[in-house]
Amino acid sequence: MSGGGPTPGRTAAFDAIAPTYDASRGGTARAAGFAGQLAPLLDPAEPVLDIGVGTGIVAAELTARGHRVYGVDLSPGMLAHARERLGPRVAVGDAGRLPVRTASVAQAVSTWLLHAGPDPRAVFREVARVLRPGGRYLVIPARGMRPTDDIGRIVGELEDRLDPSGTRQDGPALLAPLASAHGLAYEGTASERPTVFRVSPTDMARAIEGGRLFTGAWQVADADLPLVTHACARLRALPDPELPRVREMADFVMVFRRAG
Ligand SMILES: C[S@@+](CC[C@H](N)C(=O)[O-])C[C@H]1O[C@@H](n2cnc3c(N)ncnc32)[C@H](O)[C@@H]1O
Repeated sequence: MSGGGPTPGRTAAFDAIAPTYDASRGGTARAAGFAGQLAPLLDPAEPVLDIGVGTGIVAAELTARGHRVYGVDLSPGMLAHARERLGPRVAVGDAGRLPVRTASVAQAVSTWLLHAGPDPRAVFREVARVLRPGGRYLVIPARGMRPTDDIGRIVGELEDRLDPSGTRQDGPALLAPLASAHGLAYEGTASERPTVFRVSPTDMARAIEGGRLFTGAWQVADADLPLVTHACARLRALPDPELPRVREMADFVMVFRRAG
């Protein structure tokens, strides 16, 4: 990989949360789960490019499963952690302008990248450029499923208000047509992994206010903070707000392929 330069400003949010990112996003259990979903879809004989590698926590789990992983990320703060895990196989770079040679990559992955700010059109165009003909891009979305229980409805409405144009959605309905318009055919989902967890409305309100899980609220502009406050008040006003709800979701891999 050739070097790429950071873009000041665009990385500030992830630089700031880098020290607490892993622990606040499910730690090694999440990473091991994602690696377990990706690994059977990857060829161990070919290197893997992890685009938006972050702290390298998922890449490290893939490495432990026998894959040689290279990583690119826009945030120097996140990459500092990835470098501790992966050594010099990581570089600062923009997913929309990858520091990688054309048609040089057999397989690429991204976990929780496409809701996090990059223009997915630019990412798909770049991935189509760097993949070899027939190469695959495996994506685990952050918002592939939106729960519709009482907590999910309130959080979903908050997300829609904070992101009215849907740029932070990253499920197949939005991404499949964008990918095919930019050189990658969508082949469907694979490795579905149901996850069941418990959270109470009060816990969720606390998490949103703390800027942690299940929402982009940590990137909310000051002007939009009243929307967050209102959503948290609605969560606390639900019946039995201390009672954990059993929430069922699923993580899955979206498979994209460059024409052979
Ligand atoms: C939610 S984190 C996910 C990190 C990692 N893939 C994981 O699953 O733990 C999103 C990552 O995408 C990176 N990112 C956001 N926009 C990017 C871009 N345009 N190019 C490269 N990386 C980007 C952020 O810096 C951050 O590290």
